[in-house]
Amino acid sequence: MTATHLAVERPPDAGEALVRAPLYIGQVRCDPPVILAPMAAVTNPPFRILCRELGAGLVVTEMISARGLAEGSRRSLEMLDVRPSERPVCVQVFGADADDLARAAVVVERAGADMIDINMGCPMKKVVKSGHGAALLREPRKVFEVVQAMTRAVSIPVTAKIRAGWEESNAVDVARAIEDAGGAAVTIHARTRGAMFEGHPDLGEIAALKAAVSIPVIGNGDVRDVASAREMLALTGCDAVMVARGCMGYPWIFRELAASLRGEVIPSAPTLDERRGLLLRHIDLYVETYGERITCLQIRKHLLWYFRDTPGERVIKERMEGLWLIAQVKGAVDEALGACMAPGLRFARGLDSHPNRRQLPRAQG
Ligand SMILES: Cc1cc2nc3c(=O)[nH]c(=O)nc-3n(C[C@H](O)[C@H](O)[C@H](O)COP(=O)(O)O)c2cc1C
Repeated sequence: MTATHLAVERPPDAGEALVRAPLYIGQVRCDPPVILAPMAAVTNPPFRILCRELGAGLVVTEMISARGLAEGSRRSLEMLDVRPSERPVCVQVFGADADDLARAAVVVERAGADMIDINMGCPMKKVVKSGHGAALLREPRKVFEVVQAMTRAVSIPVTAKIRAGWEESNAVDVARAIEDAGGAAVTIHARTRGAMFEGHPDLGEIAALKAAVSIPVIGNGDVRDVASAREMLALTGCDAVMVARGCMGYPWIFRELAASLRGEVIPSAPTLDERRGLLLRHIDLYVETYGERITCLQIRKHLLWYFRDTPGERVIKERMEGLWLIAQVKGAVDEALGACMAPGLRFARGLDSHPNRRQLPRAQG
C-alpha cells in the first residue's frame, strides 16, 4: 500500500441500490454518470451512437493524434467525426507537445465536440516510446503544462484519463497537476502502466483521488455489470463509472447501469429479437458511415464479440471469410441467432481481457 492509498472497506450497503444524480463536467451534463470509454478501433460513431441510445450518459471517441489534428492530416480529421445524435461526446487525443495539443483542442472544439480528453494511460510501446499516453504519468510538471495549454486554448471542458502510475502509484500528484491546470475532470483506470490490463484494478487508487481533488473523478477498470459498478461507486465515492471491455459485444450493459443509477428496475438481458434488432442497427449505422466494403471487414470482430461462447460464434467463424456483401453479413447474423435458440442458452457479457491477447479466458453468464 502506498502513502496515497485510502483503505476501502465494504460498506454494509455496497450491494444495495446506489442512485446517482446526473454529473456535470464543466457545463456538460452527463446523465446518467455512466460513460463509454475511449477504445481504439472500437468507439467509432456507429458504436458510440448505439451506446448512447442504450443509456450511456457520455461517449468518448477513439484516441486521435493531436499532431495529426493540428497539422490537418486527413486520417485524423476523418476520425474526428462527431454527430449531433451522439452528444454529449468527448474527443480523446494523444500527444505530448503543448502546442500540438492546444491547436488540436481548437480543432476539436470547432468540430462540435462537447469535451476534449487527453490520453495519459495508453500503455502500448509504440505510444509511450514517443512520450505519449502513460509516459506522461512520469512527469507531473509536463502534465500541468499540456493541460494548461489546452484549457487556455478552448472553452469546452478539458479532461484527462490516467492510470494509477507508471510502475509505482503517483496518480494523486498527476491528478492535482490536472486540477491546478484547469482540468474539468479526471478519469482513472486503476491499474499501473506496468500492470497493462492484468490483475484487479486497485479501487483504493480511485478513493485516494476522490479525496485529493475537488474536480469530478471517474472510476474505470473491470466494470462488467451492475454489481461491479455499484461496488466501485460505493467503495470509492467516485462521481461516475466508465466502461470499456464490459460493453464489447454487450452494449446493453448501459441500459442496466443507467436503470440502476436512476433507481429504476434493471431490465433483463436482451431477448433474441432484441439482439437481432440491435445487431442489424449496428450494421446499418456502419454502412451509413463507412460503406459496404469497410463494414463487411470491420463488423466481423463485433459479430464474434456478440456471439462469444455461444453456438453462434462457430457460425460466424465459418462464414467469416465469405462476408463481402451486407446481405451476407445479415444472413450470417440470422444463421448465428438461429444456432442460439436452445432454451436456457446464456450469452457472455462483454470481454474479459484485451482483444489483442491471444488466449481469452472465458467468463460465464
Ligand atoms: C480494444 C481497446 C482499446 C482501447 N483504446 C483506448 C484508447 O484509445 N484510449 C484510452 O484512453 N484507453 C483505451 N483503452 C483502455 C480503456 O479505455 C479502459 O481504460 C481499460 O480497458 C480498462 O477498462 P475496462 O476494465 O472497463 O476494460 C482501450 C482498451 C481496449 C480493450
